[in-house]
Amino acid sequence: MTFGGTPSVSRRQFVRAAAVGSAVLATGLPLLSCDSITGPPDSAGRTALPRPPSMAVQGSLVATAGVAALCPDLQVAAFMLNGSVPSPTIRARRGEVAQLQFVNQLADPTILHWHGLIVPADADGHPRDTVPASGQYQYAFPIVQRAGTYWYHPHAHHLTAMQVHRGMAGFFVVSDDEEDALQLPGGSREFLLMLQDRAEPGAAPFEYAPSPADLHVGMLRDVAYGNGVPRPTALVPPGPCRLRILNASHARVYRLALDGGTPLTVIGNDGGLLPAPVTAESVYLGVGERIDCLVDLAAVRPGGRVMLRSLPFALPSAAGATSSQGTAMDLLELIRLPGDAPRANPLPLALSNITPHPAPSATRTFVFTSAVGASHRINGLSYDINRIDIQIPLGQVERWVFQNDGDLPHPVHLHGTQFQVASRSGGRNVVYPYEMGWKDTVLVFPEETVAVTVRFDTYAGVYLLHCHNLQHEDDGMMLNVEVTQ
Ligand code: C2O
Ligand code: CU
Ligand code: CU
Repeated sequence: MTFGGTPSVSRRQFVRAAAVGSAVLATGLPLLSCDSITGPPDSAGRTALPRPPSMAVQGSLVATAGVAALCPDLQVAAFMLNGSVPSPTIRARRGEVAQLQFVNQLADPTILHWHGLIVPADADGHPRDTVPASGQYQYAFPIVQRAGTYWYHPHAHHLTAMQVHRGMAGFFVVSDDEEDALQLPGGSREFLLMLQDRAEPGAAPFEYAPSPADLHVGMLRDVAYGNGVPRPTALVPPGPCRLRILNASHARVYRLALDGGTPLTVIGNDGGLLPAPVTAESVYLGVGERIDCLVDLAAVRPGGRVMLRSLPFALPSAAGATSSQGTAMDLLELIRLPGDAPRANPLPLALSNITPHPAPSATRTFVFTSAVGASHRINGLSYDINRIDIQIPLGQVERWVFQNDGDLPHPVHLHGTQFQVASRSGGRNVVYPYEMGWKDTVLVFPEETVAVTVRFDTYAGVYLLHCHNLQHEDDGMMLNVEVTQ
């Protein structure tokens, strides 16, 4: 992995930046303007956002413990895949067949799960398939997926949080013909951003030692890391750029926004492209969720900076108030490179065709509770690897209702399919336009009830439904879902 130096731009250059009005590109993207930049420009202490290495979907992934040199000031004892933190970006095309040999050279048991991918149950990385130290697992599955931003991470029960914390998590990017036809920005105009909140670089940010409060609320720390480095900064060419953002944190919810209220142009989420682009002033991103957006810095003067931030938000609860959930954070600094913006292809008004599920033929309710003392449950149940909690026939459409009866947010995730969000009542009381299309994770805040429609239509077998707060998941806020023939 290579790192660029931290670019420097003088404060004077920055202050003299001319204000540009609400210019709109040929793409129809709102342009970021200089006068939208707030706060002093300061790349001091920031680290260039690394681009993780890429690999094809045929090959091997070898997990080892070792020292990762993340940036000059940060060498950490980490768990690496193929020697890298973050894990390599796997790039695949719909229709390809994945052949991945996983080799576990850690001292711990582990298994890899492909989050968001629809794969046969025995290739899903279910915790019962955990391999011991020195074990191996051979994955083979066709990529039946729509184009989108998926990811992968370990899924050994009770060990997921620690192993993700140690550095095991990577992007799994799928492309297809539908997406190609849109000619979206790629190459140096595509940025992958894996967000994690960690301790300061000097405070052992990759050591996993959760406190009792961490085990209840979920582990929250105050520094934003991008692709493994603290306080990331990226050099961005003018013209449309694609920013694919993954929340790979333990518990942190980000409320993404650009400086000065410039809206984000969202084109996709967990399961690929939205039906149409959506402009959003802010986007809530819970653990496990992805958002795919376009940004254009053409109206920012060369060297000008724009911060991607997490805006503050309040939770209607005591635990929300006593944790740092919802505090403002700077996430990624974007610095506009010199040069002219290329002639852009107009962004089509329609991106993708999403067929709504037919009316559900059954309803199930899942109640999420968190008692103090770190017992996180669904319908009163704590995960049992051998117990089947739900059976759903292959092809049947059901309405699943996720009800939060506690005071902590729960990012609810389902394996083996993508669902559609039908409603949210209580709390924020809205389904956001960026939650349209296909989702595999949905954020359920305290006081909220979220209904989704679910259909497994590809494979039978045992999958999982769980909270993706990693402390909640490891504690057992997880159920086995059997898809029956
Ligand atoms: Cu991101 Cu069960 O996983
Ligand atoms: Cu998953
Ligand atoms: Cu939870």
